[in-house]
Amino acid sequence: MMKVLAFNCSPKMDKGNTALILNPFLEGMREAGAEVELFYTKKLKINPCQGEFNCWLKTPGECWQKDDMQLLHPKLREADIWVFATPVYVDGGTGPMKNLMDRMLPLLQPFFELRDGHCRHPLREGTKSGKVVLVSNCGLWEMDNFDPLLFHMRALCENVSREFAGALLRPHGEALRPMMKMGAPMNDIFEAAKEAGRQLVKDGKMSPESLKTVSRELVPLEMYVQVLNQSFQQALDALEK
Ligand SMILES: Cc1cc2nc3c(=O)[nH]c(=O)nc-3n(C[C@H](O)[C@H](O)[C@H](O)COP(=O)(O)O)c2cc1C
Repeated sequence: MMKVLAFNCSPKMDKGNTALILNPFLEGMREAGAEVELFYTKKLKINPCQGEFNCWLKTPGECWQKDDMQLLHPKLREADIWVFATPVYVDGGTGPMKNLMDRMLPLLQPFFELRDGHCRHPLREGTKSGKVVLVSNCGLWEMDNFDPLLFHMRALCENVSREFAGALLRPHGEALRPMMKMGAPMNDIFEAAKEAGRQLVKDGKMSPESLKTVSRELVPLEMYVQVLNQSFQQALDALEK
């Protein structure tokens, strides 16, 4: 059975906007027969890497820090698909997501090898080379706010010998919940996220149509700016009362 290991790296967990896309996506994968395990970085204890390379040279494959990475390492090694879900925070993922990624170093060996003429580290024995998916949402309106994160994920995939299977990206994500409350039709977005999950498990890839629907425009740019500014002003005005 295909194993999926997913991380929701938003501090808002299931109350956040990231979860609105991540959860149906994982549901689709489960429907297609995958075994899906979801972790919330907020609930995990993952200390930052201390950069001592003990996991390479003193206790090969193991970090000296005893925390939840001990539980996650065998799962990371065995999973066919890794899903990293994060809001955009200052043009990247959240800090806890970066800590998790830094602590993945024991998956690699210290040695260098040339892969396609590029210097990289080989995977440690017993580590699968599967796929990686990014699920992200951001507060600004444009799709290009995901560019740095996409660049990072692609680079990470090269370094851990995994295939980047694509991303479910939800720009102007702050419009999702207010629009749902207003009863605006949004089901196509959640259905497309689910469908992308099914497709990935069944066909090994997500269709561009599904991904496009997940990212579709919710409101025009000018309106988004206007409405959000109004609500920020209201919140600030309320402080004075
Ligand atoms: C510290 C911080 C930094 C942020 N940086 C960005 C950013 O660089 N670009 C952007 O578009 N949104 C940014 N946002 C907005 C979040 O991406 C947005 O609120 C998102 O919907 C939160 O998702 P969540 O509810 O799943 O946590 C930032 C939010 C916070 C709290």
